[in-house]
Amino acid sequence: MSLVKTIGELEDWRKRSGRKEQTLGFVPTMGYLHEGHLSLIRRAKAENGLAAVSIFVNPTQFGPGEDFEKYPRDTERDYRLAKEAGADVVFCPEADEIYAPGFSTEVEVKGGLTQKLCGASRPIHFKGVATVVNILFNIVRPDRAYFGQKDAQQAVVIQKMVRDLHIPVEIVVCPIVREKDGLAMSSRNMYLSPEERKQALSLSRGLAKARGLLASGEEGCDRAERLAEVIGREIRKEPLAKPEYIEILDGGTLEEIERVEPGRKALAAVAVRFGGTRLIDNTVLSLEEK
Ligand code: PAF
Repeated sequence: MSLVKTIGELEDWRKRSGRKEQTLGFVPTMGYLHEGHLSLIRRAKAENGLAAVSIFVNPTQFGPGEDFEKYPRDTERDYRLAKEAGADVVFCPEADEIYAPGFSTEVEVKGGLTQKLCGASRPIHFKGVATVVNILFNIVRPDRAYFGQKDAQQAVVIQKMVRDLHIPVEIVVCPIVREKDGLAMSSRNMYLSPEERKQALSLSRGLAKARGLLASGEEGCDRAERLAEVIGREIRKEPLAKPEYIEILDGGTLEEIERVEPGRKALAAVAVRFGGTRLIDNTVLSLEEK
């Protein structure tokens, strides 16, 4: 595996790697890799001749007072894990390699898509994500890029950006990877105290209850309000949990829905704060077409 820090070094790797004869799968990350990232890297390698991973804690997607400074970093460990998962190259640039001095361009997916859910409390977040992902796509020039369903809104925003700007890359969204007890894997889980970690299981429990309710087939079980209520009840049992949102939306457009329609995927999405840590999780809700 090659480790490169500059765009020039990445170009050299491209020439050596036989890129022309093989497809390139790309996994953009902010590092501190966990099993969720590794599943994306393995899939990128399984579906392409070559797999590239970027590690870049992107300053423009963090708002004032967010955790940019303390975001966990362990680059040596990341290289080892990325290599074991099958990465052919890891691109780990400094900030001024991505944002050259005088940089003044932003990419913004406008409208409700980026203002609701996480966008409501993180108003600049998706502009930072869209901008950096666009830059990384231009530098890495992959055939396919892999994102986790854990960041469901991010995946929808990036798919929209790729469609709107005709970016020639296929976006592959991969399932959430969970700890054995159900907690969705996240680099931010390491901020949780043992008690917060225990109470954080209410997110996956609540989402499972919503799936259970929908599967029960009982009268009104497909109503968005009722499904959100079931999730909220489970989360609010925990004294340290401060829910930010609990929403049932259309899975493709993130538009509000009244009920889960047969044959159409809905998304149950939650964000909950535990002290200074903000966790997100989600599940797809669907009913078979009659
Ligand atoms: O999901 C992430 O880790 C980041 O938002 C991404 C896509 C790497 C952009 O910085």
